[in-house]
Amino acid sequence: MRNLVDKPSEVFDRDFEWSALARFIADDQPGATLGVVSGRRRQGKTYLLEAACQAAGGFYFGATEATDAESLRHIGNALTAHLSPPSPFHFADWSEALSVILDLGRDQPVPVVIDEFPYLIKGNPELPSLIQQALSPFGHARTSTKTRLLLCGSALAVMGKLLSGSAPLRGRAGPGTRHTPAGLPARGAVLGH
Ligand SMILES: Nc1ncnc2c1ncn2[C@@H]1O[C@H](COP(=O)(O)OP(=O)(O)OP(=O)(O)O)[C@@H](O)[C@H]1O
Ligand SMILES: [Mg+2]
Repeated sequence: MRNLVDKPSEVFDRDFEWSALARFIADDQPGATLGVVSGRRRQGKTYLLEAACQAAGGFYFGATEATDAESLRHIGNALTAHLSPPSPFHFADWSEALSVILDLGRDQPVPVVIDEFPYLIKGNPELPSLIQQALSPFGHARTSTKTRLLLCGSALAVMGKLLSGSAPLRGRAGPGTRHTPAGLPARGAVLGH
């Protein structure tokens, strides 16, 4: 992986968040890890995550308000553009997309950002559970991937819930992230609160 320690010069401030992200992304432990990034609108979440993906050769996907089928088509197109496979991806369901995402990290830690994640949940409420399955120790060859998956969204009500209490993704967040003063009840990295 390219060196992520040095923050690109066009990114102002955010030294704390950058180093937390860099630690999370560069973590060499086997197995996929999950981070949740949340914060108010226009605080620089997307900017920082895109810069980190660029610096580390990762994959960034910004979801839109779309149906589930459209979102699957969009991420299929984006992964096709990213990987240039012999034939384009046409995902029938999210398990197929997640399998490709986990495969991205098979050789080394690679950040994968899914931004505006609440739009995807709106289109498919099962998605957090599907991610849990894919990341579970018994799921898709968990130890043979080092994908560093970052789910991002500004709706704290939705993003905070992902990791709280009995939510499907609780306990899957990796280290190197922090609590928010607003009280996100798990290890989500939080910008702008
Ligand atoms: N650290 C930074 N250095 C330089 N410019 C920044 C930085 N953070 C944010 N910006 C500028 O502020 C703009 C808004 O940030 P951004 O779109 O990343 O916010 P956001 O938190 O993702 O908002 P939303 O929740 O609406 O998606 C960016 O397009 C960028 O130009
Ligand atoms: Mg954004």
